[in-house]
This record gives sequence, C-alpha cells and structure tokens, in this order.
Amino acid sequence: ASGAHVPALVIGTGYGGSVAALRLAQAGVDVHMVEMGMAWDTPGSDGKIFCNTLSPDNRSYWLRTRTKAPLNYFLGFPIDRDISRYTGILDAEEFSGITVYQGRGVGGGSLVNGGMAVTPKRENFGAILPTVNPDEMYDIYYPRANAGLGVGTVDPAWFDSTDCYQYARVGRKHAQRSGFPFVFVPDVYDWDYMKQEAAGTVTKSALAGEILYGNNYGKKSLQKTYIAQATATGRVTISPLHKVVSVAPASGGGYTVVIDQINTSGETTTTKTVTADRVFFAAGSVGTSKLLVKLKATGMLPNLNNEVGKGWGDNGNVMCGRANHIWDPTGSLQSSIPCGGIDNWAAGGAFAEVAPLPTGIETFASFYLSITKNPNRAEFSWNPATGKVDLNWQQSWKQPAIDMAKTIFDKINSKEGTIYRTDLFGVYKIWGDHLTYHPLGGAVLGKATDNYGRLVGYPGLYVIDGALIPGNTSVNPFVTITALAERNIEKIIATDL
Ligand code: FDA
Repeated sequence: ASGAHVPALVIGTGYGGSVAALRLAQAGVDVHMVEMGMAWDTPGSDGKIFCNTLSPDNRSYWLRTRTKAPLNYFLGFPIDRDISRYTGILDAEEFSGITVYQGRGVGGGSLVNGGMAVTPKRENFGAILPTVNPDEMYDIYYPRANAGLGVGTVDPAWFDSTDCYQYARVGRKHAQRSGFPFVFVPDVYDWDYMKQEAAGTVTKSALAGEILYGNNYGKKSLQKTYIAQATATGRVTISPLHKVVSVAPASGGGYTVVIDQINTSGETTTTKTVTADRVFFAAGSVGTSKLLVKLKATGMLPNLNNEVGKGWGDNGNVMCGRANHIWDPTGSLQSSIPCGGIDNWAAGGAFAEVAPLPTGIETFASFYLSITKNPNRAEFSWNPATGKVDLNWQQSWKQPAIDMAKTIFDKINSKEGTIYRTDLFGVYKIWGDHLTYHPLGGAVLGKATDNYGRLVGYPGLYVIDGALIPGNTSVNPFVTITALAERNIEKIIATDL
C-alpha cells in the first residue's frame, strides 16, 4: 500500500531478485518484491497458463499488437501475426541496432528461457568476472546455484534412443565428424517428466513445442524453485503488475520508491510511494541499467558514478540454420529443450547450442544459437528529448560474432557438403544478427558498484542481477547470474544488516 515502509524492496523477480529475496527472508528480513509483469498463476480460457509457441495469442508478447518471433521467417515467408495488446510474457524490446528479448512476469527470464543451465569452464572465469575469486565461486556459489535451480542433465542412453532428440543427434554427428567436441548441456527441465511425455503418460510440454511463451509443465522456472521457497518463509510479498519508476534518498533515511500500478493494457491505474531501508535493483541488465541511467540523469540519484550504463554486451549471440541432406532428417517431433552444444570456444571463440525447430514437420534443418566472444560493448544513455534511455549498439557490431560462429559452421558445411539456410531470418538472409536473448552489463561489478554490488555513493542501494556482468559469460548466463547473486547477498547479509 502507498505510504508503507519496508526493510527491503527488490525490483524485479528474475534470478538475481529471487536469490536476494530468499536469502534475506531466511535471515529474518521482510522483503517486498515489485514486478512489472503478471503473476502467471491463473489459466486462460483454454485451461492453460501459457500459450504455445506455434499458436501465439495475447499472452505471448509484452504490449505489442503483432508478434515479433525471434525466428521471423519460414521458407522465406514472414510468420508474425496480429495479437491484441496485453501484458504478455515475452518482451521484444527494440533499441536502434538490436532487439533484446526478455521475460516479463513473476520469474523473469525463467518463464521464457530454454532452461539451459551452464556453469562456465573454470579456465574462462577470469575473463567473465575478473574481480571475483574463482575458488569461492566454483567451491561454494556455483554448486549452491545449481542446487537451488534444480539443474540436471539428460540421460545419455535415453538421448540416444528417443525420437525427440534426433535433431540433436544429427547435430552431434556433424560436430564430431568435423572434429568439434559435442557436450551435453544441463537444464532445469524435469528430465523424468520429459521421458514420461515421450512415453505418452503425461501432458506434453517440451514435446508439444512449449518454450518461448512459457512451459505449462516440465520446466522448473523460478516460480517452482527460489520464489516458491522465498514465499514459503512467510516474509516475502510480491506485487505483480507494479513497475518501479523512481528511487531517491528519503529525508528521514532510506529511499523513497515510486511505483506505478498498471493494468493488462499497460496503462497506469495508480501511483504508489513506499519507503525502503534497502533497495535491490534486479530488473535485469536492461531494466536495471535503464532505471539507473535515468535516475542519475534526472537528479534522483545524481551521485551514481560514470560507469552506470556502461559495459553492456549481447553475450555474442548469433543464430543460423543449416540445410541437411535428405538422408539426415532432424525429425518432426523435437523437444523444445536443447540439450547439447558444440564447443569451439578456445580455438574459435564460439559455443553453439544445437537448438530445436519445433515446427511439427520435417524440415531437414539444423538450427543453432551461438554464444561468441564478440568483444563489442555498448552504452546506455539518457535522451532528454524523448524522455527515454537509448542503447548505442549497432547491428554491424555482430560481425565478430558471425566470424566466430563461422569457425564451426563453415567447417561443418564443407565436411558435410551442405549449405546455410537462407529462409529463417528473411529472404536470403543467413545470420540472425538482429537480436540477443542474453543481455548482460550496464552496472558492472567493481565499476558502477563495489565488488559485491553495492552502488557507489548510495549506502543501501544494490545491483544484484545480470547488469553486474560485463557483457559475456562464455555460455548461457543464468547460472552465473544466480551464483554471483548468492555470493553477493551472503556478504551483504553478513556485513550490512
Ligand atoms: P530477469 O530479466 O530474469 O528479471 C528481471 C525482472 O525484472 C523481469 O521479470 C522484469 O519484468 C522485471 N522488471 C524490469 N524492470 C522493472 C521495473 N522497472 N519495475 C518492476 N519490475 C521490473 N539463459 C540461460 O542461462 N539459459 C537459457 O537457456 C536461456 N534461454 C533464453 C531464452 C530466451 C527466449 C530469453 C529471453 C532468455 C534466455 N536466457 C537464457 C537468458 C536468461 O533468461 C537471462 O539471462 C536471465 O533471466 C537474466 O536474469 P536477471 O535476474 O538479470 O533478470
């Protein structure tokens, strides 16, 4: 309620926010979580909470009148369709040179992501978070994050026999024939549930193509892990459809937080003001960066340092497809949960997930999301003319990522006598170079904050999400975001409370 006072306010309910809420609550602190998206706990008229990737409806996108599918073409034809404007689950947020996909709702990105839960190789950690002690991460916080998230790996024997991973087995065969290591990628999907889906004994989710707009069954999103544990403490409350618009020092100490309550059309219905002793920015790399840049520029938090908004990267994301020969079908039934990758990080700067194309028909296509060592970094800045925050990324900055991905796929194509698909991202366009799923940075650890996420200049303000990570994690990012949050909140609870 407006006028309330809370000891700890968490902005956002993704990985960083959920870790902070759980650990603070366990330490005896009452926590209020504020989330701009919906709760996603109530079925729609079709009896399901989430809609299917193949039949998007108003639940699929955040305040759009037309879908904006990451894979926006098929056989050269655009596949986007009109929908009604609603506070749907996937935000395709457009900046000048890049579309940044993000989850909206209680659970943040865990609602929409593939659940691939990858701990980076230790030898790469120094480049990911140079100011963090790797021993404590690999001995304590990565294991803690993996346990809290419920990470598991596909049963290799089942992988070898099930129809739904034929596409991944083709990916493995082609990788290995070109001399690249194929690695199993852990995931938070309930692997036993997936086996039962394949056996036909439970309602299908991964095997029904559910992913981008939510999984109704097998995926262990944060709603089922950290957030369930946090609310079970009795100390955590969550306000969905509430958007934080301002944070500023309060006259009597602590911070005044201004929150817009919105309806499902995205309109503000009420504006509330609360006071918080401590505020945790966990709105995601983009959400946290936009808030901090705006609050610094508009005089609400003028003492934030000049690192705020800097060091943003796309985790080197780039997508492509390959056209297989007729004797290499990838299967009409494809699990929407990827489970394998091609590791050419050390030699070529690329780690490629073998991704599904769950269209329900045979496509003879292999599809990949590559994470690359793209060195380009962008910066957020306040635009007083529009009253919005801009990001100066340019689409041409993906070229290093394309070059790195080509170290894998040019070789495979030449070995297999195959070619790139040109019909998935436009008419005759090979590379999906217009987007990222993995925004990182904007309030980098040890630069905009101290080495534990405390914002410089404002005691009691913390960053605890992907904004802390300087642009790249060498693999999919959420395990690292979770582990870093576990590390930082432990220190903050021990020394600041
Ligand atoms: P996260 O984005 O999760 O949460 C931030 C929350 O804050 C959101 O719920 C948002 O609505 C809310 N918010 C923002 N601004 C606010 C405001 N002003 N007021 C209130 N609330 C606000 N990663 C991975 O490791 N493996 C994978 O398989 C995938 N796959 C994948 C697929 C797709 C389609 C996407 C979009 C992303 C992935 N990712 C992924 C990326 C992963 O989901 C992402 O890195 C994390 O969710 C980021 O966690 P954070 O805690 O930083 O923020």
